[in-house]
Parts: sequence; structure tokens; C-alpha cells
Amino acid sequence: MNEYVTIAMPKGRIFEEALELLRKAGFILPPEFDDSRKLILEVEEEKLRFFLAKPMDVVTYVEHGVADIGIAGKDVMLEEERVVYELLDLKISACYLAVAGLPDTKMSDVAPKVASKYPNITSSYFREQGEQVEIIKLNGSIELAPMIGLAERIVDIVSTGQTLKENGLVEYSRIANVTSRLISNPVSFRLKEERISEIVDRLAAVIDRLESGESVF
Ligand code: PRP
Repeated sequence: MNEYVTIAMPKGRIFEEALELLRKAGFILPPEFDDSRKLILEVEEEKLRFFLAKPMDVVTYVEHGVADIGIAGKDVMLEEERVVYELLDLKISACYLAVAGLPDTKMSDVAPKVASKYPNITSSYFREQGEQVEIIKLNGSIELAPMIGLAERIVDIVSTGQTLKENGLVEYSRIANVTSRLISNPVSFRLKEERISEIVDRLAAVIDRLESGESVF
């Protein structure tokens, strides 16, 4: 086991849950994870190298093979067709993609506007519904759009529902459930199959135990 496996980790809301899962699976993690701004961290004992990336960029690092594996939300996988393997549903950071807007408002018949961070998901959803919409791509704070008249609807992640509630918005329909996935670069998977499979097995085992209600420390 001489070769390092590199893992692209998503910074932000998935990060803590991903760390927790890795810890529960018995991985020794870099102590700097707790309070460092370093973007590359290694654990010699595990021969693991961690990259810290923006969630939307994890798939890019993995697709290009600079990270062998990564943790990415299903939302990102649905939004972008990338050549990566999806190895395991980590069942963390559960949320869903939904259409939302101001209450009791109809979409206009002519060119209704929908704002989202997910233009492709939005476009295929409304196409399937037989509705033609203009998509406005935003990068965050999507909930602002209907409040200030930029769009009639948004397509965004709902987790606790708090953001919608606090901004007086309601959900119109659910598009897809989202959890985080372990993904792999196809070439890395072939070249480092034994090491990557061992990581998958360790994580799968802990996910099963957690699902069966066993307490795992
Ligand atoms: C996400 C999402 C919603 C919010 C939903 O935003 O875009 O705004 O979380 O979570 P809730 O249902 O628990 O309120 P994020 O915090 O990732 O920031 P962003 O606005 O920059 O996308």
C-alpha cells in the first residue's frame, strides 16, 4: 500500500458530515481539518491525500484525474454530465431539489422566468412538464430572485426548509432527492482498484451499521 489515493472533499455544508462518516469508518484524518485553511492535507498512515474544493468543483477534479475519488452531491451529478463512476451513496447531507416561489402566484403564459444554480436540471424539468421558461443562472442566494421580481420561480436545494420559510416562499413541486455520493475517476478506479474498493467497503460497512440503527462512535 505505497500509493496515495487522493480524495476531493467538498468544503461547506457537506464537509462536516463527510468527516464524521470517515471518522466513523475508522479513517485517521488530518488534525488540521479542524482549524486550518490548507487546501491539501495528507495522512501518511492511511496513504490518503485530501483536496479541499468547492462542492461544484469536486467532480471536475475527479473527472480530470487529479483526484482519484471525491465526495459530491447528487445535485451536481444530475446537473453536469461528467465521466466519473458513482461508487456509493453515502446517505449524508440529505436534501432535495424543488421548484419554489411566492405563494399563490401562477407562472405567466409568456416567457416565465426561473432562477437557479442548476440551469440544466431546471431546463429538463420544465421541458418534461411541457413548459417553456427562460432560465436565469445565479450562483447563490437564489431565494432572493422571486422576492425582488427577477424570476417567478426558483429551482433550488431545500434542506430544512428554513430559507424558504424565512423568506416567505413556498414549494411548488419536488424534482429529485439528493444525497452525497462517493465518486471515482474511471482510470484511477482501474489502476488503484484494490485501495479504492477497500475505502468503499469501509464506508459501506459503516453506512449499513448506521442504517440498522447501531450506534457507531
Ligand atoms: C442552500 C440552498 C438554499 C438553502 C436551503 O444554500 O441554495 O438556499 O441552502 O437550506 P435550508 O432548506 O436548510 O434552509 P447555501 O447555504 O448552500 O448557500 P447559497 O445560497 O450560496 O447557495
